[in-house]
Amino acid sequence: MGKDWWKESAEGIPHLVTNLPGPESKAMHERTSKYMHGLSGQVKLFPVCFDEGYGITLTDVDRNKYLDFSSGIYVTSLGHCHPKISDAIAYWAKRLMNAHDFTTPVKEKLMEKMADVLPGKLNAIQLYSDGTAAVEAGLRAARAISGKHEFISCFRDFHGKTMGAVSCAQMVRGDVLSYGPTRAPGFYMVPRPNPYRPTFSKPDGTIDTDRYIEFYEEFIQEATVGNIAAFVLEPVQGWGGSIFPPDDFFPKLRVLCDKHGILLMDDEVLAGMGRTGEWLTMNHWDVIPDIVTLGKSFGNGFPVTAMVVSEENASALDKISASSSYGGNPMACAAALASIEVIEEEDLLNNATRVGNYFMKRMNEMKGNHPIIGDVKGKGMLLGIELVKDKATKEPFEEAGKLVYQKAFQKGLAWIPAGHILRMSPPIIMDEKYAEMGLQMIEEAITEVEKEFGY
Ligand SMILES: Cc1ncc(COP(=O)(O)O)c(C=O)c1O
Repeated sequence: MGKDWWKESAEGIPHLVTNLPGPESKAMHERTSKYMHGLSGQVKLFPVCFDEGYGITLTDVDRNKYLDFSSGIYVTSLGHCHPKISDAIAYWAKRLMNAHDFTTPVKEKLMEKMADVLPGKLNAIQLYSDGTAAVEAGLRAARAISGKHEFISCFRDFHGKTMGAVSCAQMVRGDVLSYGPTRAPGFYMVPRPNPYRPTFSKPDGTIDTDRYIEFYEEFIQEATVGNIAAFVLEPVQGWGGSIFPPDDFFPKLRVLCDKHGILLMDDEVLAGMGRTGEWLTMNHWDVIPDIVTLGKSFGNGFPVTAMVVSEENASALDKISASSSYGGNPMACAAALASIEVIEEEDLLNNATRVGNYFMKRMNEMKGNHPIIGDVKGKGMLLGIELVKDKATKEPFEEAGKLVYQKAFQKGLAWIPAGHILRMSPPIIMDEKYAEMGLQMIEEAITEVEKEFGY
């Protein structure tokens, strides 16, 4: 099996045999929705029912075939059902499914592999089965390491849906947690740099990273009791719309954290393990965090996540009751180990960088040709197109975002909606041919929406 294992199955996509969503999708969704509630906006906007996935191709129950630009939800980054990963999971599914947190041969290999690919001395590890649990463990570890209790996180970052994780993020208005009391005591939020919409800018209008850092200094002094365990943030805002900070932000934040004895907790659940062309997105800036969380791409679809701290803080993990029922089960370890090996064997960090550069070049061209594209952004294959009503006022164009999502889906592109920022997270095995195919579907949808709105 070579690195082109997925190509034959992608021949002829998109292949549509019904209008979308098709009749069987609609009927199945209706039957299931009698019982299944609380669906995401993604499903409500396009209620299709998928039946198979292989490589970059998804097939629905009406046998329509789609090009995948979402990887589940940033999850199956190495392609659906990668044969090596599926075989590794199946082997342990037939041999040993759970042994609580006893060591197993496959866990030993995974631990050694992770210590090898993660930067610095990030090699004290605990495994979980969802990203939120890894984040919660990271918060507990931060308190155990530092002996302090406060946390600072950032506007519009996302870290999960349990009480600690939501205390580090925006409270959704109308959501049950907004009824109050909302954020847990000691959790504070600050703005983070968004180059397209800076809170702090220089006289020439460009973003002023130093001013953010100065503001954090002031904030620590004025708003906290100076007992801050960690600064918790995503390396790139994923759900927030693929928003990367300027290159000098994290190096400067690292200095600030060191000055105040604050741990840097890097939530790479969405951005880590290859998607941006590095094992950790933080590697782009040569910054080594104190605590890292991994998920999504880590097991390429098998629920396995991790919380990692540096070697000198390893003993803190004995103070947080770190283990869980499913964390580190043999199937999970096999999935994560095989995923890392696939990235190495198929040279996928370089592929994500090369194809990501192609995406950015084409997206910049599209920006020049479309009045409603205000900004394009990305690193590797974590990408976004920001839609605005007017390039001068930058007013977000939510209605257009929703319509472009639906129209491109109808052309056979399975992808992710996010308000006015179109987000893309294609499998990083993809080549330029399919990147171009998906972008053309998006561009056609944008052109149609512009016409509808009279541009
Ligand atoms: C940055 C980040 N952290 C944590 C989570 C929570 O992960 P999970 O949905 O696996 O609990 C997510 C999910 O999207 C995420 O994007």
